[in-house]
Amino acid sequence: MRILLSLLFVVGLVTSAYAGTVESAVKTLKVDHGISPEGQKCVQCHQEKTPGIIADWKMSRHAHAGVSCIDCHTVDKGSPMAAQNCPGVKGSEMYVSILVSPKTCARCHAQEVEQASKGGHSRGALQYQDPKNPGYKTFFEGLVRTHEGQNHPECVESSNITGCMQCHGSIIKLDENKRPTFQTWPTYGVGTVYPDGAIGNCVTCHTRHTFKISEARKPAACASCHLGPDHPDIEIYNNSKHGHIFNAEGTTWNYDSAPGAWQPGDYRAPTCATCHMSGIGDLSTTHNISERLYWNLWAGRSEVRNGTDPMDPLVGNGPEGRQKMKQVCSNCHTALHTESFFKQADPQVKLYNESYYDEALKMKKALAEKGLLKENPWADTFQNTFYHMWHHEGRRMRQGALMGGPDYAHWHGVFETMQDLYEMQNIYNKRMETGKIED
Ligand code: HEC
Ligand code: HEC
Ligand code: HEC
Ligand code: HEC
Ligand code: HEC
Ligand code: HEC
Ligand code: HEC
Ligand code: HEC
Repeated sequence: MRILLSLLFVVGLVTSAYAGTVESAVKTLKVDHGISPEGQKCVQCHQEKTPGIIADWKMSRHAHAGVSCIDCHTVDKGSPMAAQNCPGVKGSEMYVSILVSPKTCARCHAQEVEQASKGGHSRGALQYQDPKNPGYKTFFEGLVRTHEGQNHPECVESSNITGCMQCHGSIIKLDENKRPTFQTWPTYGVGTVYPDGAIGNCVTCHTRHTFKISEARKPAACASCHLGPDHPDIEIYNNSKHGHIFNAEGTTWNYDSAPGAWQPGDYRAPTCATCHMSGIGDLSTTHNISERLYWNLWAGRSEVRNGTDPMDPLVGNGPEGRQKMKQVCSNCHTALHTESFFKQADPQVKLYNESYYDEALKMKKALAEKGLLKENPWADTFQNTFYHMWHHEGRRMRQGALMGGPDYAHWHGVFETMQDLYEMQNIYNKRMETGKIED
């Protein structure tokens, strides 16, 4: 059997444009024992048709463990995604889907999928694309369609399709051939909702078809979404001492240790994954990215986490989350260093809540009572400034403080938040004095 499969592969290699070297031949032979003849067919034909996919797959742990195309892409005939759009299976008893939902990964990685489903990433798409949720009216109908989309007859959802959805995920819809529509796919957004009901996206941090943990452990795996004016986490990281060390020597570190065995010594400073996800010391790995958080640092007002439903902005357990985060630090810092760091950072959140957010909200309520707010918040300088204050500057002020990025805590943060507040106060005073909204 082994010899037969190897032979098949030698034939495959000769016809392949990719596998020219002896090295890759050895790799291939080692890889393919244990894969069924049907599975071999997928590999052989796709070697010619989509060589990039095969090259990636060959490098993966999956290939080495005998997990192939068939294990991830075939679905039951009864699945909503059951299709025969691949010419290799047309007319056969086999059904494949281009979509591979977390439900499929869960057949072999149940724990990771279960953990991921409990964290904030899993609400990415639903919180604003599902009409049942409050974000739908404000963000999808309001911001995306009415304002950014200008109710354009064809392009009304353009801002969602090219922007929001690529980070947040979509609610995938299928066409008559059971293939995902262009309005909803491709995306690698974190909260993708699949037609089989599964929620989440496993290629967000370890991309297909290599599915490497080494990739997910690097800051780049988060930086494609956690950047920019409203959540500049990669910029904050680069500004921090940890980012300084990573940028100076991170290319020389070891990212390939087995799951749970990636420890100081492999690296000198933590990456995003180290603090938020990886096992370190006695702390085990988690795919629930809300598990080690204390505050909610993206909301208008920051409260301590105390929720169990992933749709709840406060999902997590604040005190336990803080305890786990401190456990991460304790691998490299003393208790005094860690305690003092959080004593430096937490008051920045309190300051933001009480002197900025609460003050701005008081003014907004008073203006609303007197009918001194425009109906369109995006064309009203007061409301627009308020939005920037909490959503951009105020997040930078809070997240900069808690991840040790002084330029974001200060110049891009509290300094600009202060300027927003003063601008709002000026507008507020003018409107209250004149009883009119300025042009
Ligand atoms: C570990 C699971 C897994 C294995 C094994 C696997 N795939 Fe995939 N494949 C995926 C995922 C996940 C996607 C992304 C689909 C999505 O967005 O839902 C994907 C996407 C694809 C696509 C669409 C890619 C594009 O960019 O258009 C093709 C075609 C495909 N896979 C073929 C294969 C073939 C051929 C093999 C065997 C060499 C294979 N896959 C093995 C999980 C897998
Ligand atoms: C005889 C060649 C051949 C065989 C065998 C074959 N495929 Fe394909 N497959 C293709 C081609 C060609 C495409 C279309 C690629 C494109 O659209 O660019 C395709 C497309 C796909 C797609 C995407 C389907 C879609 O809706 O666009 C998946 C997933 C896939 N194949 C998986 C598999 C799996 C799993 C097997 C083994 C059970 C397999 N293929 C066997 C040639 C083959
Ligand atoms: C049929 C079982 C099976 C399915 C389905 C499956 N995997 Fe795996 N996966 C494995 C095995 C086996 C390993 C290798 C474990 C080892 O090397 O110890 C693995 C390893 C991994 C790793 C670790 C890779 C590394 O660098 O060490 C990741 C990440 C991963 N899988 C992600 C996924 C994702 C995402 C999906 C769904 C798209 C998926 N797997 C589907 C069986 C599966
Ligand atoms: C594809 C884009 C994307 C990538 C990549 C990504 N995230 Fe996220 N992340 C999001 C989105 C979108 C949200 C907000 C989800 C929501 O609340 O709707 C989020 C939220 C979070 C939150 C807050 C969760 C909460 O409960 O409020 C944390 C922490 C986080 N991500 C950490 C990470 C880390 C660490 C990585 C890398 C290992 C990462 N993310 C990779 C898009 C991404
Ligand atoms: C570059 C990636 C990216 C884009 C584009 C993006 N977001 Fe986000 N969004 C995020 C991240 C990351 C967070 C989490 C912020 C944090 O934890 O500080 C987030 C948070 C949110 C939240 C707060 C979380 C919640 O559960 O309520 C909402 C609402 C939101 N985004 C809606 C949108 C909408 C609507 C769009 C498009 C008009 C959009 N986002 C565009 C990445 C993105
Ligand atoms: C936000 C980024 C992110 C997403 C999304 C993500 N992973 Fe991971 N994954 C990681 C990181 C980081 C590690 C490495 C943890 C460590 O250092 O050991 C990892 C490790 C793994 C491993 C190796 C075993 C382990 O638990 O350490 C498997 C298997 C895995 N992921 C499967 C999945 C599956 C299945 C999904 C989809 C539900 C998924 N991942 C989604 C970041 C992510
Ligand atoms: C040294 C550890 C550490 C590193 C490295 C780190 N973080 Fe954080 N992160 C934290 C801490 C601590 C908090 C605040 C947790 C709390 O007390 O609520 C935080 C908060 C966050 C939040 C805000 C969640 C919310 O409630 O809005 C996001 C998003 C986030 N981190 C993403 C990232 C990303 C992406 C990276 C890498 C670019 C990263 N972090 C690197 C420790 C770290
Ligand atoms: C893998 C080891 C490691 C982990 C884990 C780690 N750090 Fe660090 N950290 C370092 C190193 C190394 C430095 C640089 C020390 C120097 O400046 O000489 C540093 C620097 C710092 C600094 C800058 C001040 C200083 O002493 O240089 C702060 C603040 C900090 N870390 C906080 C934290 C917090 C908070 C956590 C946990 C959320 C944490 N670190 C986790 C290794 C780590």
